Amino acid sequence: MIADITISEKSFGPKTLMHGIKFSIDDGEKIGVIGRNGVGKSTLFGILAGTDKDFTGDIIYKRGTVVVATAQEHHDLGEQTVLQYILSGLPEYSELRHIIETYPLTMGDDMDKINQYTDAVQRCDDKGFFKIEEHVTRELDNFQLPDVAHRPLASLSGGQKRLVEVVKIMHSNAHLALVDEPTNHMDYIAKAQFIDWLRDAREAVLVITHDRDVLKEVDRIVELKDGESVSYKGNYDAYLKQNAVSTGTQMNDFEMIEKRIANLKVKVLDYQRLKEKSRNPGTIQKFKRLEEVSRKELAELQAKEKPTFWIDKESVAGLNYKVAAQYDKFKAKNIRNHQRNKYCRQWLKRTFGTRPT
Ligand SMILES: Nc1ncnc2c1ncn2[C@@H]1O[C@H](COP(=O)(O)OP(=O)(O)O)[C@@H](O)[C@H]1O
Ligand SMILES: [Mg+2]
Repeated sequence: MIADITISEKSFGPKTLMHGIKFSIDDGEKIGVIGRNGVGKSTLFGILAGTDKDFTGDIIYKRGTVVVATAQEHHDLGEQTVLQYILSGLPEYSELRHIIETYPLTMGDDMDKINQYTDAVQRCDDKGFFKIEEHVTRELDNFQLPDVAHRPLASLSGGQKRLVEVVKIMHSNAHLALVDEPTNHMDYIAKAQFIDWLRDAREAVLVITHDRDVLKEVDRIVELKDGESVSYKGNYDAYLKQNAVSTGTQMNDFEMIEKRIANLKVKVLDYQRLKEKSRNPGTIQKFKRLEEVSRKELAELQAKEKPTFWIDKESVAGLNYKVAAQYDKFKAKNIRNHQRNKYCRQWLKRTFGTRPT
């Protein structure tokens, strides 16, 4: 394991965004993070990258773990070219290059320096550094960024900088690479190049994405939902299978609760009526107690939070028929409630002339 992540609270002002995030990352594991917009994926990214420290919990990395993340913002780039920026993230590159460029001028007969120089040349060759510029330039071409290698990074558009970030990450050889929505603006050639890298990468990669083609390649899916995380072993197909089962169970549980609530409401009224009708103090006492017990259970069930049964449309198609029908029913009910609330607000506004809060 290279990382163990627990976030027990992350809030923005009064709004709590996360309260139960927990998962770990194994060496070399590829993790896809999914969840609907606004659920907190990018916020989680900032926390893992260490740029956001304002949360309660622990992000524990194994000692010596090097973590790299695609940068969201770029400041103080100066005249640094795209190639220089990418190569600056390459471990050992600058040191070896420095030796190769400067030692021949000064080493003379110094055997130590001659050995260091020879080693550096060998190591550069082994690591493919002599061809790295060509290699990176080709990757940039594939990412629809031709002729940018020697241009200042600062002169590129936001979308182009994001692609440069992905190329940089691909060469960083870290233990864990964090990548936020990499394929959003990629065509299929660029995407194929990214996926090839993901498949072969030795480092662990955590990628936030909705892209099915990327999610097919991961070892695990972490879904953010209602402030919590659920971790599913396997790729997206495995996730769909497991999710159909657990969503079905949740919906069944919730329907059972709704039925029980309806039942209890009737019981409370019955006991109340029976209590009022009785003359015998013992019987009155009995119905009073039954009424209280039912009221208590009713209050507890009504206080239970409604789970959000969110699954994307295609996943619903992948669910079995019965679960899909239940899901549609639940969604329709939510929409009706929403409509009703809207009509209610409009009605209040017409009646009172102000916008109710
Ligand atoms: N700096 C911030 N201040 C206040 N609210 C924020 C801030 N950053 C994000 N949020 C809110 O937190 C929620 C989650 O945002 P984000 O992590 O970007 O979601 P995602 O990437 O899953 O779409 C959103 O409702 C967003 O408005
Ligand atoms: Mg985001």
